[in-house]
Amino acid sequence: MKQISMLLNAKDKRGKVKPEIYGHFAEHLGSCIYDGIYVGENSDIPNTAGVRNDVIEAFRQIKMPVLRWPGGCFADEYHWQNGIGDKAVRPRTVNNFWGGVIETNAFGTHEFFNMCEQIGCQPYLAGNLGSGSIKELADWLEYLTFDGDSSLACLRRKNGREKPWKLKYLGIGNENWGGGGNMRPEYYADEYRRYQNFSRNFSGDSLYKIACGPNADDYRWTEVLMQNINKWHASGISLHYYTVPSGSWEKKGSATSFTDEEYYKTVSSALYIEELIVRHGEIMSRYDKNGDISLIVDEWGCWYDVEEGTNPGFLYQQNTMRDAVTAACSLNIFNRHSHRVAMANLAQAVNVLQSLILTRGADMVKTPTYHVFDMFKGHQGGDNIYLYTENSLDGKDIKIPMINASATIKDGVITLTAANCSLYDSAELVCDISGIDVNSVSAQALTEEIHALNSFDNPERVKPQSLSASLSENRLKSVLPPASVASFVIR
Ligand code: AHR
Repeated sequence: MKQISMLLNAKDKRGKVKPEIYGHFAEHLGSCIYDGIYVGENSDIPNTAGVRNDVIEAFRQIKMPVLRWPGGCFADEYHWQNGIGDKAVRPRTVNNFWGGVIETNAFGTHEFFNMCEQIGCQPYLAGNLGSGSIKELADWLEYLTFDGDSSLACLRRKNGREKPWKLKYLGIGNENWGGGGNMRPEYYADEYRRYQNFSRNFSGDSLYKIACGPNADDYRWTEVLMQNINKWHASGISLHYYTVPSGSWEKKGSATSFTDEEYYKTVSSALYIEELIVRHGEIMSRYDKNGDISLIVDEWGCWYDVEEGTNPGFLYQQNTMRDAVTAACSLNIFNRHSHRVAMANLAQAVNVLQSLILTRGADMVKTPTYHVFDMFKGHQGGDNIYLYTENSLDGKDIKIPMINASATIKDGVITLTAANCSLYDSAELVCDISGIDVNSVSAQALTEEIHALNSFDNPERVKPQSLSASLSENRLKSVLPPASVASFVIR
């Protein structure tokens, strides 16, 4: 057992934690959309307009604030006109990025926007800059959001939607440094400026435009992009960063079978996102002194080898307590950098990579990562507050801080979340709270053996349990078991 002192000052506020930091991402990839989210109106699986009721309910439970769609790589090959109108005659296209399977286009614009309304989340549209055209994107925006008598708005009405939808978040291109067109940053920046120019605001909307930012540590991309855009062109630039345990894309490592060393490598690699946020942020600040342009981490999460026996193009992987720890660390980091990070989207929502949910036929499993989002939802919309953690290093050769934590305050209620990254040591937290008088605490923890997961045979093995915590004279005490995630609500 190691004792960890913490200091928390509720008056020292360091920036609003935008709910969008708890955002998600659903791509036409493997069984994320088809089977995972959308089963069609005629399915035996309970659904509303073709979208699974169990999945919608699970998304609502974690207060999903925003959902990015239709990709990913898929977005830069997506042509929205294929996904509207009578489903019986929608074109059948090839999903070239993900397994070469047939895309029926049964899930398209109306299905996505109506689903977001059911969830109560904001849609985040990823526009096609890689293989589309400016006119195609401009038309999509008019179709979606124009309330007048144009042909495109009338077509929307004919297809069943009278009122325009509300749209705030618009990404223009995805990974254009790679799968989205292999562009140089100079070329992309020029293209982006043209596309954003014709992305119009209709019906009182004010688009929050997001340019394609860097891949991981590509600092040159950020530098060139920031030299060429300003707050009139973009409100945010994206950052994509995946945690790959082995560091090699050829052999990434198994999702479920890993050694202690691989565990520590994975956590260390997840923690690296903090350095990326700081260093990209420093470059951004040189060009954008007032901080008008935010970082949008619109793809993050752990990426392992696909589960044996599954289609390699479908990126299906299981999810263990290791993923819960890395998710908690990432979300704590986003909270602590909320002055820079305005949105983050876990990849992906269902059945792909570090997903929230796994489905098999009518069955659904909430992963350990799902429960972390549930336990952390109290942070949404709070103020990030000062939290000092006296840490100790853990791990054998790969040293990482044992405790990773963050705290926010909203309406006088403090949410404190912490991950104990140590595989073998418990942490006795002693947290002194100032700036507010507090009297009560309730706590929950995810705590299980590090390889534990939720399967279709045992879907509730990993789930939040109540954790013992005491509060006396503004001092909180609690013991975090090894490799656990905890959340405290303090009033
Ligand atoms: O999330 C899977 C893929 O990872 C996305 O399509 C792409 O943007 C990234 O490379």
